Amino acid sequence: MLSTATPAAPSPTASFPPVGTIPRDFSPHGLEELWSLVGPVEPPPFTTTREPQLPITVPSPPPALYPTWYAPQPSNVFPNLSLPEGFIFGVATSAYQVEGATKMEGKGPTTWDWASRQPGFILDNTTADVTDLQYYLYKEDAARAAAIGITAHSFSISWARIYPFGVAGSPLNQQGLDHYSDLIDYHLSVGIEPVVTLFHWDTPLALVAYYGGFTSPQIVYDFVNYAITIFQSFNGRVKTWYTFNEPSVICDLITGFPFNSFIAPGVNSSTGSYQCAFNLLNAHAGAVKAFREMGISGEISYKNDDVIGIPWRSNSSEDMAAVERHASFGLGLFADPVYTGDWPQIVKDTLPESYLPRFTDQQMADLKGSADFFAIDAYSTLYIKAPPDGVTTCQNNISDPAWPSCNVVVPYDSKAGWAAGLISDPASSWLEATPQLLREYLKQLQERWPSNKMYISEFGMDEPFESLRTEMYQILNDVTTTNYYMTYLGEALLAIHEDGIPLMGTFSWSMIDNAEWSHGLEPKFGIQHVNYTTLERTYKRSAYALCKHRTRHS
Ligand code: NOJ
Repeated sequence: MLSTATPAAPSPTASFPPVGTIPRDFSPHGLEELWSLVGPVEPPPFTTTREPQLPITVPSPPPALYPTWYAPQPSNVFPNLSLPEGFIFGVATSAYQVEGATKMEGKGPTTWDWASRQPGFILDNTTADVTDLQYYLYKEDAARAAAIGITAHSFSISWARIYPFGVAGSPLNQQGLDHYSDLIDYHLSVGIEPVVTLFHWDTPLALVAYYGGFTSPQIVYDFVNYAITIFQSFNGRVKTWYTFNEPSVICDLITGFPFNSFIAPGVNSSTGSYQCAFNLLNAHAGAVKAFREMGISGEISYKNDDVIGIPWRSNSSEDMAAVERHASFGLGLFADPVYTGDWPQIVKDTLPESYLPRFTDQQMADLKGSADFFAIDAYSTLYIKAPPDGVTTCQNNISDPAWPSCNVVVPYDSKAGWAAGLISDPASSWLEATPQLLREYLKQLQERWPSNKMYISEFGMDEPFESLRTEMYQILNDVTTTNYYMTYLGEALLAIHEDGIPLMGTFSWSMIDNAEWSHGLEPKFGIQHVNYTTLERTYKRSAYALCKHRTRHS
């Protein structure tokens, strides 16, 4: 799996009360008890929504970097190609990573509020207690995105702001609901389409304390209840919805430090990821079923991650078999149930029911077709090779370190060890810019899980060593990221025009620098810089390049 948030050096010292021992006390006192598991929280520097000074002034664009013959924009290379009518040109964020205000306005604690305080887990020792404070600065962020030419913002709602205790039947936090309602209205008022993700990894802490979160089937009912509340509240104002962001990452993280402190009874670190996948998929299907039965307007899907992959040695049947296993245990673990109704055959052949619960006929029927379009977080493509003892030996040997997926991701080629692409910041070793592989990537997805519409629901890179740059003129000159976006957009244009890929939108990760999970504030994925003392935002070179590209083409 290509993952984002994997901690480098797990430390074993997390402590959490045994699952099921915290009483379901839905009073203010009960909420404080949950917060006491997290510990003290840094308060935000201000606690009201700030009104931006409109109109936003966009400073003059950066000068050209290269002679015109060297690295022209996709618009110069493909002057006759344009993005299709209605193409969405978006940016993306998620609640935990940008909101801050973590204990404000009735929010309950989340697993990440707790995890970010576990020793050694966040590599730069930061929390996201304040981060970008988008909770109070969302107007400025929406207006700034609009001013430079962005047309959509894909953000997530924090479940614990809506239901601080997470569960159905527990108190609804009206302040949280009102916040997102205002946020959606404001986005619409400045011409930015709001795209909503219901869950981007920040599980309400109450749910893991009560029953083990996604490792328990109890989560299905509670997630559907939360989803229904959101659908009812924002129906008609949101056109594009996602249930889950990158389910494979959250289900993988669940069995490692520190989240392994709250695995449901009867589940263990070997089975936890698969129990999570099963429960999460049923939660997705339940929410989509409710969405359709309620007649909610718009389209709904979930955000896939990972790649099919490229065989490391081009003529190796072993590496081709490894690619199939990578596809089945990564993307396919979620996409097969959603698009075809059941687990990939390879996965069923490898994992007994004690690891991987089987779907009932009803669950399969609910899952099949439960996505209106295919969304892919298409950051990077890497090579896949067979494990050292070969695929067959591995799949029959539960003690093989590569079991059960029995494949190895390789970031360099088999001929001379050349990197697959442009190298990102060392914090993101999973990420190389591989524009030359994007068309093949999208074709592979379309072949396996055909759809009438695709979005690149996230793409982007963290500018190498940006956190070490001290002067603004250095920081804003994010040339590697700019090249990433320009080359990906050029290939996206070709994918649409030459390959017939029904790509109807791209979402750059990210609208602003933010808290990159276990790597904290150090990696810089933003197309805007954030000064973490003043919270001031500044457009980087990549923001200008992206938007110049758009105005030429749509
Ligand atoms: C994908 C995840 O959805 C997002 O949360 C993360 O920050 C980016 N990848 C970059 O790693």
